[in-house]
Amino acid sequence: MADSDQAAELKRRAAHAAVDRIESGMTVGLGTGSTAVHAIREIGRRMREGALRNVVGIPTSRAAERAALEADIPLMTLAERPIIDVTIDGADEFDPRFNVIKGMGGALLWEKIVAQVTRQWIIVADAGKRVTRLGTRSPLPVEVVRFGWTSQRAHLESLGARAELRHDEEGHPYLTDEGHYIIHCSFDEGILDPHALAQRLRSRAGIVEHGMFLGMASEIVIGAPSGIEVLRRA
Ligand code: A5P
Repeated sequence: MADSDQAAELKRRAAHAAVDRIESGMTVGLGTGSTAVHAIREIGRRMREGALRNVVGIPTSRAAERAALEADIPLMTLAERPIIDVTIDGADEFDPRFNVIKGMGGALLWEKIVAQVTRQWIIVADAGKRVTRLGTRSPLPVEVVRFGWTSQRAHLESLGARAELRHDEEGHPYLTDEGHYIIHCSFDEGILDPHALAQRLRSRAGIVEHGMFLGMASEIVIGAPSGIEVLRRA
C-alpha cells in the first residue's frame, strides 16, 4: 500500500472509531477535512441503517455542510443548538499535551467556535500528525481580516514566523467562509511557547483567530498501522 493510501485508510479507521462515541439524540459538531469527512459519512450510514436516531449536525464549514447534506444528516445552526454534545474534527498536528494545530483546511474560525461550545471535542488523525512540539510539521494558519492584511503579515514576521498568504487553486488569495484571508506561519524551531504566542496573537487587531487549539481536546483518536490508539484527557 502506498504511503498516501495508507494514511487515507488510517484516517478512515480513526474517524469510524470516533463515531462510536455518538449516541442517538445527540447534537454533533461536524468537522472539516479529509479525516472528518469519513466521520460525517459514517454518521450518515449509521442513521440510514437505524443504528443512530435523532442526531442533529452542526457543520464547521460550508464544505462540511455539503458533505452532511450528501450523507442525509439533519442540520441545525448554533443559534438553535448552542451546546454540542460531541464534535469529531481533524488536525494537522497534535502533541502529548492535547494541543492541536488546525486550519490547513481553511475552516479554523468556525471549527474553534464549535469546539468551544462542545462537551466532548474529539480529534481524529492518522499517526503521522503526532509531534512533540507544535509547528514542526505544519505551518500555523492565522485568519486575518482583509483590510490592512499586510500589516498583520509584518507583525507575524516580527514574531519570528515566515508568513505567507494562502492562495486557492486558481492562484487568488484564499477566502474563508467568513470572507477573511489566511496567513500560513512557519517557525524554524517550531512553536516554543504556544500559550504565549496565542496570547500575542489574541491581542492584535486584525487577527481574527489562529489555528492553535490548546488543551481543548477531550480525546485524540489515532489511526496507526498497529491499530487504533486513544489518548484521553484526565
Ligand atoms: C480544516 O480547517 C482543518 O482544521 C482540518 O481539520 C485539518 O486541516 C485536518 O485536515 P485533514 O483531515 O484533511 O488532514
